[in-house]
Amino acid sequence: MTPGHLKSEIAPAAVEVLAAELARRLSSAAVVRASEPLAKRTTLRVGGPADVYAEPGCETDLSVTVRFAAERHLPLLVLGRGSNLLVRDGGWRGLVVCLAHPSFGLIELADGRANLRCGAGARLKAVANFAKNHSLGGLEFLEGIPGSVGGALRMNAGAMGSSIFDRVISVRFMDAGGAVGESGPGQLGVGYRHCAGLRDRIVLGAVLQGAPARREEIEERMSQYSRKRWSTQPAAPSAGCMFKNPGGIPAGRLIDELGLKGTRIGGARMSLEHGNFIVNEGNATARDICRLIELIRQRARSERGLELETEVEMVGSDE
Ligand code: EPU
Repeated sequence: MTPGHLKSEIAPAAVEVLAAELARRLSSAAVVRASEPLAKRTTLRVGGPADVYAEPGCETDLSVTVRFAAERHLPLLVLGRGSNLLVRDGGWRGLVVCLAHPSFGLIELADGRANLRCGAGARLKAVANFAKNHSLGGLEFLEGIPGSVGGALRMNAGAMGSSIFDRVISVRFMDAGGAVGESGPGQLGVGYRHCAGLRDRIVLGAVLQGAPARREEIEERMSQYSRKRWSTQPAAPSAGCMFKNPGGIPAGRLIDELGLKGTRIGGARMSLEHGNFIVNEGNATARDICRLIELIRQRARSERGLELETEVEMVGSDE
């Protein structure tokens, strides 16, 4: 659903017509816009507009939207909280769908209060806090990940030695035809920062496993994690860690050892606080960031023989 480089195919007037047509098919709770800037919807704050942008009001709206995209041959990009996403400067030629409507963000107790049922749009911080308030541990590490449940599942996001799939009981999703299904983690091809089974599906929600614990203990773990994060990671706009750890050495330490912290291209800079973060100093373009990524990859290859793979998903067209 997320091809990398797309050619400019839709004329501006046609984009308006498409957006109006989609809006007519959706409920009044939905939001549909033409030529919607995406930079403000990603934590890196770069990138061009989406031809058509939609926030469905409910699952039926989402299914209609997915089928509309297929019918019109519009490449579909699912946007979460945009915290692990680099949108190129030309933006997205096609349709962007975002599950920002509150109906996708529910968090509730499930299975006799031992687990949590969370919507794809729920923020991870809200999930961690809800679990804490109900004395359910095991989800503290989600506290500082600036993403949504859907985005986190799609890439098996993690922090502090845990990944979200460590706690997943089941995932509900919609396929490219608009049909709803459900799977356990065993059927989803889960790996480090990777989930093959969700590449071409839209996450609707998941049941996460809690572990009964004292609220004070949970609180203490959450503040420990938060202290570690604030003391080792930059506060400036970024997409979190840019590269997957290549095995053998964490990417941040590698970049540090190569003396590349602080390297700047345009408005993009390798963070001085943590070597695996690229920060936007305020005026970066996606092109600056892509060039910096390439420079780092080349140095890792030529000096250490290591292939760095981006953890951040790169989408859209260059111009
Ligand atoms: N290190 C350096 N120099 C640096 C950065 C790190 O020497 O500039 C060293 C640290 O001292 C430590 C080691 O490298 O010994 C690992 O660093 P850290 O504990 O920060 O963990 P990481 O492997 O770099 C991973 C996740 C982060 C997550 C942290 C904390 C990946 C790619 N990154 O980072 O996740 O927040 O652990 O648990 O797996 C993200 O995925 O976006 C992300 C930020």
